Amino acid sequence: MSLDLEQLTALQQASEAAQGHYRAPPPPSLPLCQPLVADRFTQLWHTPWWERLSSAQQLRYNQLSGLRANELFMLFEAGFTQRVVARLQRRLQQRQPLLADCLRLMLLEEGRHHALFLAFNRALLPAAYGDAGGYFARPGQLAQGLLALVGAIPGRWPLLVWLILLLEEFSTAFSRQLLAEPGLAPSYVELHRLHLLDEARHVQLDASLIELLSAELRPWANALNGRLFRYLLAELLAPKRSGIRVLHHLVAEFPALRPALPQMVAAVRALGRDPGLAELIDSPQALPLTHALLQRYPAFHWR
Ligand SMILES: [Fe+2]
Ligand SMILES: [Fe+2]
Repeated sequence: MSLDLEQLTALQQASEAAQGHYRAPPPPSLPLCQPLVADRFTQLWHTPWWERLSSAQQLRYNQLSGLRANELFMLFEAGFTQRVVARLQRRLQQRQPLLADCLRLMLLEEGRHHALFLAFNRALLPAAYGDAGGYFARPGQLAQGLLALVGAIPGRWPLLVWLILLLEEFSTAFSRQLLAEPGLAPSYVELHRLHLLDEARHVQLDASLIELLSAELRPWANALNGRLFRYLLAELLAPKRSGIRVLHHLVAEFPALRPALPQMVAAVRALGRDPGLAELIDSPQALPLTHALLQRYPAFHWR
């Protein structure tokens, strides 16, 4: 899955062409009356509580869940991916200048994505997004500490690139599902169509980086990476925090739901893993590159 010179040149040229053609989409026209995502990508839809919500409550919960999905991508684009990829880019500048340049372009694109997602979320919920993202989605302290620790020397920790690959390939699958789903808000679908164009290149770079970094490690170090990766992934997939904050926000907008909040929270927690996310990441059809790499590096397999 390593990229040869020809493939890297093609990615570099496509990325440069995309920078040249890029125009920011117009802000969404409000009020937004359509759902943002298919209901199966919301957590409550997988619980008996979905049917008990009014249609106005279902629509709003769906839209809040769509904003939360944007935040998940923003969380990586502004912080984690920037930190890890910028360090790897510097490390590769002498040895692999073409790959390093593709990573430089990737980071430019991530900055643009972050601005797009933030502008969209801010248009829908101005009070929630003052000067940054992260209203619903904030990483837990343990995961944050661990990532900061290993992120200082990303060359030793391919698990960091595994996390980026997984999120980016998930985002491509998520965008494709949005494009195939009728009746969603066109401005949200357009946002993710634009995102898909860039991310389809990023996942190839991620897979190539994983091969490169893993080849430099001893088997025990790769196995340790796999273990930590599985732990962090389980943390990410558990509907422990951001999904619960969505429920709290829904109740703030619909106070009649307040007595049901503890039970709704319990029902979402009982899901174990976020079902919409899990459905896609478990699927080799949805995430072909990730699953092909899992065949080669079984220590990273989460099932
Ligand atoms: Fe992105
Ligand atoms: Fe990306």
